[in-house]
Formats: sequence, structure tokens, C-alpha cells
Amino acid sequence: MKKIIITGGAGFIGSHVVRRFVKTYPEYQIINLDKLTYAGNLMNLKDVEQAANYRFVKGDIVDAAFIDELFATEQPDAVIHLAAESHVDRSISNPTEFVMTNVLGTVNLLNAARKHWADRYDKTRFYHVSTDEVYGALAMGSGMFTEETPYDPHSPYSASKASSDHFVRAYHDTYGIDAVISNCSNNYGSHHFPEKLIPLAIHNIKNNKPIPVYGKGENVRDWLWVEDHARAIDVIFHQAKAGETYNIGGHNEWKNIDLIRLLCQIMDRKLGRAEGESAKLISFVTDRAGHDLRYAIDAAKLKNELGWEPSLQFEEGLEKTVDWYLSNEDWLSEVTSGHYQAYYQEQYAKR
Ligand code: NAD
Ligand code: TYD
Repeated sequence: MKKIIITGGAGFIGSHVVRRFVKTYPEYQIINLDKLTYAGNLMNLKDVEQAANYRFVKGDIVDAAFIDELFATEQPDAVIHLAAESHVDRSISNPTEFVMTNVLGTVNLLNAARKHWADRYDKTRFYHVSTDEVYGALAMGSGMFTEETPYDPHSPYSASKASSDHFVRAYHDTYGIDAVISNCSNNYGSHHFPEKLIPLAIHNIKNNKPIPVYGKGENVRDWLWVEDHARAIDVIFHQAKAGETYNIGGHNEWKNIDLIRLLCQIMDRKLGRAEGESAKLISFVTDRAGHDLRYAIDAAKLKNELGWEPSLQFEEGLEKTVDWYLSNEDWLSEVTSGHYQAYYQEQYAKR
């Protein structure tokens, strides 16, 4: 594998995947293809932007002609596809944008792969990065998602990701494209956009703003350190057989309210506040519509077949994450700045 297009490389997980591949594989050429929506930020890749084996291309996966042209000129050997609209709450207010990017964008990439790789499916690979949310919701305290769990998405976000997974499998089964899929649990770590629970809470605690907890905070998520996800993608990309699916997860279930309380304790310590000070900011708000109760991943297949396991305990990972946000004030102020706010408003005005 010589030339890899990584889509969504300017986003949260994509930037960790780009960094890992650029640094670990100097013999590969890495092309980061990203539209730079509100969630994409080239500041995420400052440390690799000058690397000889890295290039950024600004573009939209929804634009089929552009994608076709990119495949024709670049002739990539592989795609690692992360570009997506990724926030459940936004999918509830604007589902169509999720269909366009997550479903149509994926199909455009698959069509280009089908056309340009037709004589070398055995030497190319389409890696689709997906989510555990396609499996729906689990009851409290029992069961885990395996690769055999039937799809049962509930939010427009998870429905769009489920649809894209089905198209990837269909292109493998129908046309013989070498495709692999992974479905991962909730990620946390540096460069996470502060609309998602953990970075939003860190940002609000720091600024003495209320921490919005949906419903009673009873919902459970299985948290994985983003660099462990990037390592899993590396392992699966290089070792999985064509047509395989792997679940990736942290064996690390937390009720939202317990997680927020732990984060408040860490923040009190780091900010020199009295114990219990930050927890006063917890504010229970109206629940998310269709809020999935619990996600939990059984990652035994990935461990048994490819030897991957999470490397970091959650408490340690959360400390590292808080430290990163506290020492990267410029990043946080850039993504919460007027520039970004104006961008949001412009995007929402179009909807
Ligand atoms: P993100 O929202 O932080 O980043 C998405 C990136 O995609 C951004 O850089 C954005 O500019 C780019 N993008 C969006 N629309 C585009 C388009 N039309 N053309 C080109 N680029 C476009 O997302 P993330 O949290 O890093 O998630 C990345 C992938 O991983 C997604 O496919 C998501 O479904 C999946 N995933 C995320 C999680 C999680 O916890 N965040 C867990 C499992 C799987
Ligand atoms: P989120 O980070 O949006 O990820 P996902 O919805 O993909 O799991 O939310 C994680 C959990 O936190 C989810 O149960 C919803 C909840 N949540 C809040 O309680 N308050 C918030 O402000 C946000 C953004 C999420």
C-alpha cells in the first residue's frame, strides 16, 4: 500500500489516524481529504503538516465528479474513510445533511473505488470507519454488541451510518471490492470538538458555565481513548481479511452522571478549586429525543484474531485529556471563537 486517502482527516479521530500513519509509515503517501466543515480544523495537524509524506486536499465527498477526478489523478491504493457528520443532536435538527454526507458521500467514494480499482481489487482496500450506534441500544446491565448483533439504529445519525455500512458490504459482495468495516464505541481525547459531552463539560467547567446533563444522566456509554482507536484502525487496515467487520471498544462503561462527577473532581484538583465546587455546575436538562440507553462493545474478535487491546485506563486517559485542554487554550479559543460561531450560523441559515 503506497498512497492512502484518509477522508475526514482534519476532524477529531481522523487527525489522530493521519498523525499515526504519517509518523509510523514514512514510506506511505498520506492524502488528507476534508471539506473543513465546522468540525474540521487543520490546527489539529500542525505537527505533521510539513511532513514529506503528507498532503492536504480540500474537497467534498458529496461531489461525485470531484471524487472521480481525485481518484483519476491520484490513483490511490487505499481509502480510510472517516469523513462524516458525527453529532447525534445535529442529526435530529438536520437529518438530510447526514444522508448527504454519510450515505451519498460514502457511495460516491465506493463508486470511484469500483471504477478506478476494477483491475486491481486484490491490491487495494476500502476501510470504512463506523460506529457502535448502528446496533441500537442495550438494556441496563445486560448484554454487549458483537459483530453478529442485528442493526437497529434509532437516531438519524446512526441510521445514516448503518446505511453507509450496508453500502460498503454490498459493494464488497456485489462487485468484489476489498472492503473492511470497524464499529467503535465513544471516543475521547485531545482535539475533540466541544459539542460532544466530555470536551463540552471540560470547557464549561473551566468557564464556570452549567454542564448540561440530558435527562437524569443515567445513559451509559463505553469510552475508548482516541489513540487506541487509531491503533486499532492501523491493525485492522493492515491485517483484516477482505469483507471482515471488527468491533472496537474500551470495556469501559460509564453512566453519564458518574463520568461528569469524576471529571468535576479532576477539574477541581487541576484548577485549584475546593472539592465539590465544579459539581455545582451540573445542570439536568431536557432529555435527547430517542436517547439510546446503553452502548457496550464486545471487542473479543479483535483481541483474539488480531491481538488488539485498549492500552489506557480511563482515569489516566481522562487526566491526560483534561491536561491537553488546559494547556491548549489557543485551540479551544479558536474553535469556540467568533469565526467558528459565524460559520455555524451561516451553515444553519442554509438549512
Ligand atoms: P468529526 O465530526 O470530528 O470529524 C468529521 C470530519 O469530516 C471533519 O474534519 C469534517 O470537516 C469532515 N467532513 C464532514 N463532511 C465532509 C464532506 N462532505 N466531505 C469531506 N469531509 C467532510 O468526527 P469524528 O468524531 O472524528 O468521527 C470520525 C468518524 O468516526 C465518523 O465517521 C464517525 O461516524 C466515526 N466514529 C466516531 C466516534 C466518536 O466517538 N466520535 C465513535 C465511533 C465512530
Ligand atoms: P455525545 O458526546 O453527543 O456522544 P453520543 O451521543 O454519540 O453517544 O453524548 C454522550 C452522552 O452524553 C450521550 O448519552 C448524550 C449525553 N450528553 C449530555 O448529557 N449532555 C450533553 O451536553 C451532550 C452533548 C451529551
